[in-house]
Amino acid sequence: MAAQPTVTVRPSGIQFPAAPGQSIMAAGIAAGLRWPTVCGGQGDCRVCFAEVLEHAEHLSEPEPAEAQAIQELAATLGRRTGPVRLACQAAVHGDVVVHKRGVRPAARDNTGGGDRI
Ligand code: FES
Repeated sequence: MAAQPTVTVRPSGIQFPAAPGQSIMAAGIAAGLRWPTVCGGQGDCRVCFAEVLEHAEHLSEPEPAEAQAIQELAATLGRRTGPVRLACQAAVHGDVVVHKRGVRPAARDNTGGGDRI
């Protein structure tokens, strides 16, 4: 059986495995991480967004709702190195490198909020 895809998060350097087809965010949470979110992965808040630095082709194609969110996000975020995806919607099918601040071990998150995006 092939090894599970690995998600690498920069600038922290955190890495975690993803089951094929699992979303970036779901894989991170399953690995014991806290991923910035308000809606809990419903595709509504856009707080989970990440910039894809390497291997965007290893992610699922955006569904229409995510595509619209991405388009609107891109207009407000300004210049980025790579494509922006909603981490709760983008399914992992191979190794990928993303840029996302605020991803950290869930056990250390005792601040009660203050997402950094
Ligand atoms: S977690 Fe809210 S849009 Fe992804």
